Amino acid sequence: MTSAVTQAVLGIIGGSGIYDLPGLEDVRDEAIASPWGEPSAALARGVIGGLPIVFLPRHGKGHVLSPSDINYRANIDVLKRAGVTDLVSLSACGSFREELPPGTFVLVDQFVDRTHKRESSFFGRGCVAHVSMAHPVSPRLHVHLVAAARAEGIAAVQGGTYVCMEGPQFSSLAESLTYKAQGYSVIGMTNMPEAKLAREAEICYASVAMVTDFDCWHPHHDAVTVQDIVRVLNSNAEKARALVARLARDFPRTHEPCPVGSDRALDTALITAPDA
Ligand code: ADE
Repeated sequence: MTSAVTQAVLGIIGGSGIYDLPGLEDVRDEAIASPWGEPSAALARGVIGGLPIVFLPRHGKGHVLSPSDINYRANIDVLKRAGVTDLVSLSACGSFREELPPGTFVLVDQFVDRTHKRESSFFGRGCVAHVSMAHPVSPRLHVHLVAAARAEGIAAVQGGTYVCMEGPQFSSLAESLTYKAQGYSVIGMTNMPEAKLAREAEICYASVAMVTDFDCWHPHHDAVTVQDIVRVLNSNAEKARALVARLARDFPRTHEPCPVGSDRALDTALITAPDA
């Protein structure tokens, strides 16, 4: 038996400082309705190097949504409806490691979810499912990102743990030292529940965590402020756009099955009886 060939569609979620993708060609805005509510913005659909791309600015145009106010379910739902098979999240983050200074791109492979105010599942009463989050990042997408970074001469660290806090306030010194002692690499406010929902939607997910600051643990750096972040954001954003353009140009045109099963996560997840 031959399996169906699925056209790869690359989704890009732009975080702080990334509200558009200038390299996108034949762009058109597409407002897709979702039963989960309003996504952060209309999708920008286009192509790069012939590959279909769907872009969504996570915080909305003009950065009007705080991390807790983002409708992550609607965002993932409209990306799924747009045909996205592989999703790259671009996000600013703080660093817990001396060797990950501002400007570093970390291709994280694990997440710790410390959020508590967000809808984090498409499932619930009436239809219960438990997807695996053991390996939240799709290894193939990760490998393509590593290759794209290398080809563009962008220093990218492979692997790391991203702890997602609720925010919007930054961490206290005690929290920051605790996360550092736990061995986490970086901190941000948005990759959860995004990664969980992508898995439930059977979309391959990977995150580029772009370091903007040392949070507040570093004895030789002041505690992070928005001004510090914005200063680093713009150069990070330029590199991120180059990374995405290269990723798109070199990306396989047909979707490759995910080694950790991201693209068939529901095959083994549903527990509610079909006739319940
Ligand atoms: N985003 C960028 N820097 C951050 C930090 N230090 N904490 C949480 N989110 C961030």
